[in-house]
Amino acid sequence: QRHMKNGIKNILVTGGAGYIGSHTVEALSEKGYKSIIVDDFRNSDKSVMEGLNILCKIKPLYFEIDCTDEKLMRFIFKYYKIDGVIHFAAYKAVGESIDKPDLYFHNNIQSLTVVTKLMNEFGISNLVFSSSCTVYGQPDSVEVSEDQEHKPASSPYGYTKQVGEQYLDFLSKSSQNIVKSTLLRYFNPIGAHPSGLIGELPNGVPNNLVPYICQSAIGLIGPLTVFGNDYDTPDGTCVRDFIHVVDLANAHIAALEKQFSSEASISIYNVGTGKGTSVLELINTFEMVTGETLLYNVGPRREGDIVKIYANTQKVNKELAWKSEYTVADALLHAWKWQKQLVYKRSIQYKIDSL
Ligand code: NAD
Ligand code: WQD
Repeated sequence: QRHMKNGIKNILVTGGAGYIGSHTVEALSEKGYKSIIVDDFRNSDKSVMEGLNILCKIKPLYFEIDCTDEKLMRFIFKYYKIDGVIHFAAYKAVGESIDKPDLYFHNNIQSLTVVTKLMNEFGISNLVFSSSCTVYGQPDSVEVSEDQEHKPASSPYGYTKQVGEQYLDFLSKSSQNIVKSTLLRYFNPIGAHPSGLIGELPNGVPNNLVPYICQSAIGLIGPLTVFGNDYDTPDGTCVRDFIHVVDLANAHIAALEKQFSSEASISIYNVGTGKGTSVLELINTFEMVTGETLLYNVGPRREGDIVKIYANTQKVNKELAWKSEYTVADALLHAWKWQKQLVYKRSIQYKIDSL
């Protein structure tokens, strides 16, 4: 017996307990889909499920399974009627990937091949894959569109996304294949759900800018170091396309729904705001919206950093009828709300544990 209740579509969400995955599970419920999460919590916390259970009208199911494990994954495909798959599960820390390329290639590629193999075996044709602007490498132009030439990736992590994309491209041309894939190239996701109930939970000292800023502002870690202010940009700091994670989550629903009615075997979209914001501008906006003063100093450039990049979003705006709605200021306010709530919840837990 394969389960589907009341005609509601089931979406398998690998990595659904993670940062972008959890926001997408919430967005799926909002649009009337049921999520079947596969996540072994290697880079997330089970407490995410509490937030999701409060937020989601259609409650997600979750399975604590390693999605590189084909045998275990086959149980899910056997037991549930799955209408589409959103594949988030991967390792994503650029620096760590330089030290542990084997882990990154194994997890990021094996999980993808297991998912597509089972999709073909069970006749499931809709896949949305998490790609990244990292596939562009250090681009020649600052505004990148999907057909931009790919430069070599600057890390093993970046290569796993380039290889994942190439794999799906080869697969789309195979006569044995029925999987239609949409590759979403995310720019820099930031922020949290406006409720403050789900957000980003980095392990250890954060590598990414916004989690670092929030943890520093709340006093968990020391002052921020701005990695270089002598770049060829208006204020000397790097420029990125920061996109609110809820907008990014909604892009997945748009991609999935387009795919349900499309014959295209592979489609690629940039998912960004189309606007560049510098590191200093982001810091100033954070101070403005939160009323906090952020302590920071300027340090040397970080090796491998892209100087300036933002998305050309014409294709995604037109073909998926999707565009970002939130501003960077909204995203920073929501990230701050999440950070404050997290510290509050953890301090209560600490008191309970020490009783
Ligand atoms: P995340 O680490 O918060 O989420 C990934 C989730 O996948 C985690 O919950 C982790 O426990 C789970 N996971 C990893 N490997 C697994 C496995 N083998 N089996 C089961 N679960 C596994 O990361 P995120 O920021 O939500 O990123 C999601 C996806 O988007 C990743 O593919 C990432 O490479 C991609 N991406 C992220 C960013 C970003 O800046 N956050 C940018 C571009 C692309
Ligand atoms: C943003 C800017 C830093 C921390 C990474 C991955 C990319 C994609 C998104 C997954 C840069 C500066 C940062 C700090 C700083 N992920 N910074 N001090 O490097 O654009 O992209 O995440 O696919 O592949 O490389 O994001 O948040 O690390 O940095 O000055 O303590 O903030 O130099 O200019 P990045 P980031």
